[in-house]
Amino acid sequence: MFVDSTLEQFQETLGLADVSSGTVALVTTTLLLSAALAYRKLTEEKVEGKIPPVIPSTIPFLGHAVSFGSSPIEFLLAAYEKYGPVFSFTMVGKTFTYLVGSEASALMFNSKNENLNAEEVYSRLVTPVFGKGVAYDIPNSIFLEQKKMFKTGLNIARFREHVHIIENETKDYFKRWGTNGTNDLFVALSELIILTASHCLHGREIRERLDEHIAQLYADLDGGFTHLAWLLPGWLPFPSFRKRDKAQKEMKQIFHEIIQKRRANPNPDDDMLQTLIDAKYKSGRSLSDEEISGMLIGLLLAGQHTSSTTSTWMGFFLAKDKELQKRVYEEQLRVCGEGLAPVDYDQLKDMQLLDRCLKETLRLRPPIMTMMRMCKTPQNILGYTIPPGHQVCVSPTTNHRLPDTWKDFDKFLPDRFIDPEVANSEKFAYIPFGAGRHRCIGESFAYVQIKTIFSYLIRKYEFDLVDDYFPEVNVSTMIHTPSKPLIRYQLRKP
Ligand code: HEM
Repeated sequence: MFVDSTLEQFQETLGLADVSSGTVALVTTTLLLSAALAYRKLTEEKVEGKIPPVIPSTIPFLGHAVSFGSSPIEFLLAAYEKYGPVFSFTMVGKTFTYLVGSEASALMFNSKNENLNAEEVYSRLVTPVFGKGVAYDIPNSIFLEQKKMFKTGLNIARFREHVHIIENETKDYFKRWGTNGTNDLFVALSELIILTASHCLHGREIRERLDEHIAQLYADLDGGFTHLAWLLPGWLPFPSFRKRDKAQKEMKQIFHEIIQKRRANPNPDDDMLQTLIDAKYKSGRSLSDEEISGMLIGLLLAGQHTSSTTSTWMGFFLAKDKELQKRVYEEQLRVCGEGLAPVDYDQLKDMQLLDRCLKETLRLRPPIMTMMRMCKTPQNILGYTIPPGHQVCVSPTTNHRLPDTWKDFDKFLPDRFIDPEVANSEKFAYIPFGAGRHRCIGESFAYVQIKTIFSYLIRKYEFDLVDDYFPEVNVSTMIHTPSKPLIRYQLRKP
C-alpha cells in the first residue's frame, strides 16, 4: 500500500531503532538485504521491448530512498514532468515502476492478480496482523468471496442504525472537551473511531469488552504496520514483532469466546458478526472462528487510520476556511431544521456540501499514498514493457494533483465537484479508494462515519487554527498523518 522510506526509516530498517541487540540485528538485516538484492537480480527478468525510463542513481543499494522518503509526492511529480507517465527507480534494492495519471494507472486496475500480484507485496505486512486464512494469506479468488461477505454486511439498513450509534459515541466522547480549548484532534478522532468502528463493525458484545487493555492490544497489532515489518521476515526477534504476535493471539482468543457465545445465542443481534457467522463460501463451507476473527481485525484496522487521518485533515481544512465552515453549519440547519434534532441516514445523504468537503479532503490527503503490486509477467503500457520483478505502483496522491487534470490542484475547493466534467473526469484521475479487484469495500461506511462525526462536531463547536498553523504532512509514517494536529475550539453560538 505504501512506500515512503526516509533516512530515519532506513535506520529503523537496519534495526538501529527497534532492537535490544543492535549488532545482531544489523548483521541479520545486512545479510537479508544482500540476499534480497541477489534474489531481485535473479527474478527481474530481461524482456523484449522498451523498458520504462529509469531515474538514474549513483547511490548503491539505497538508490533514491532518501530523496523519495523525504518528499515522495514532489519526487513523483518531478519525475512525471521529466520522464512522462511511466518510469522506474530503485530503493533499498528493489525496483519500483510508477504509473502516473489515469491512462497509465488503468494497467494496475484492469490487471489480473496473477499478472500484477497484491499478496506478494502486502502479505508480509498484513498476515502477521490479521492472521492466517484471510486477506493476502489466501488466493485472491477466496479473498474476493470474503469481500463479498463484508459487502453483504455493510448495507443501508445497517447504516441507518450506524448513524445513531456513531452520533451517540461522538456525543459521549467529546464531553471531555468541555466548552472551549485547544486539543489534539488526531488523538481524539483516532480514539473515537476505534469505538465507533468496533461498535458498528464488530457488534455490541465486542464494543462492551473494549477497555484500555484491548485498546493496547489494537495498538500493538497496529505497531505491526511498519516499514520494518514490510521489508523483513516476521520471525525475526524484533520487540515490535513479538508484541504484534502476542496481541494477535490474545485478541483472537477474545473474539473466539464471543463468536462461540454468539453461535449459541438463539436471538442474535443483526450485525456484521452475524453476517459472517451465517455466510458461506461458494463451496458451501461456513467461515471458521479463526477466519471470522481475522476478518474482524481486518475490518477494524483497514478503516482505522484511513478514517481517522481523513477526518482530522477535514477538520483542519474547515478550521482554515471559516467561510466554508459557516456554510457547512448552515447546511446542517437547512437539512435538519433549526432545532438540529439528531441526524439520520437520509439527512446525511442530503448534506451535499459536507460530502464534497470529504471528497476534496480525500483528493488532497488520500490516506493510502501508494498502491503496489508485484509484476509477475511482462506488462505492456504506453509503449513500454515492465519486466517481472518490478513493484508496480499507483499513487492516488500523485494522480490527484496532476496540473493537467486538476485546475488549482493544490487548493482545497470542495465545490469543484459540482462541475459534472470534474466529477466524471478520466476514470482513474480520482482514486482514494482504489479501483478494480482490490477496490475498497469500506467507502460507504467511511462516508457515513465521518459525516456523522462532523455533523455533530460542527453543530457543537466552531473550529480555528492555532496561531494560523496548518499541519504539515508527516511523510515518515505509512499513512501520511498531520504533524502537530492541535486545533482550537469553542462552543458554537446559535
Ligand atoms: C477514508 C477511508 C478509507 C480509505 C481512503 C480507503 C482506501 C482504500 C484503498 C486505496 C484500497 C485499495 C488498496 C489497493 O488496491 O492496494 C482499499 C482496500 C480495502 N479497504 Fe479501504 N479505505 C478506507 C476505509 C475502509 C474501511 C472503513 C474498511 C472496512 C470497513 C476498508 C476495507 C478495505 C478492504 C477490505 C479493502 C480490500 C483490499 C484488497 O482487496 O486488496 N477500508 N481501501
